[in-house]
Amino acid sequence: MNVPRFPVIAIDGPTASGKGTVAALVAAKLAYHYLDSGAIYRVLAVAAAQADLDPDSPDDLQHIISMAANLPVQFYGDRVLLQDIDVSEAIRTEEAGVMASRLAVVPEVRAGLLQRQRDFRQAPGLVADGRDMGSVVFPDSVLKVFLTASAQVRAERRVKQIEGRGQQADFQAIFNDLMARDKRDSERAVAPLKPCDDALVLDCSNMPIDQVVATIHGWAVDRI
Ligand code: DC
Repeated sequence: MNVPRFPVIAIDGPTASGKGTVAALVAAKLAYHYLDSGAIYRVLAVAAAQADLDPDSPDDLQHIISMAANLPVQFYGDRVLLQDIDVSEAIRTEEAGVMASRLAVVPEVRAGLLQRQRDFRQAPGLVADGRDMGSVVFPDSVLKVFLTASAQVRAERRVKQIEGRGQQADFQAIFNDLMARDKRDSERAVAPLKPCDDALVLDCSNMPIDQVVATIHGWAVDRI
């Protein structure tokens, strides 16, 4: 059977590079679906924490791996539900991000979440953001972008984001956490964070967001 292959635009990059905001805006401009794959890893992290599971314990890790394959996550616009409970805010904490990054090094966790991510590929097309969208999840993406920015700029953006939620942010702690996360995401054996050979690398340290969106949208329009 010939399965229709709707076009995918893959936007990968390190934490706080702005890829989530950019990917959502590019998706809206193209009237495409949008997949925030990091949110799926974060929901698993929240589910594991709620069940009091410790990934350093082999028994608990087995439990987390089986949760990954059957994770009851649903997206409604910008709301994220875990088994009917709204976890949209809970998944955005630094703790959830760190736990997501720890779980993301486990190959069986990644394998368990693979099909769930591929299911987002629906008509008329998809913009997907993450770490391995272009390399593993959608290797036949029509456009692969690696969106990056300096660690300083990314930490500043993360501070603004947290303060925008009315919370306090410690720049140095955030900077250190971001560097540790980059290191873990880039050095893991499976699907490490790095640009694919066929990715277009865009450093947006000094670019306003609308220019980043316009650049990627322009590349996409040329290829779809
Ligand atoms: O993009 P994010 O910060 O929400 O992602 C949280 C963590 O999930 C990130 O540190 C690594 C992991 N992740 C991944 O390994 N692969 C993806 N495609 C998306 C996220």
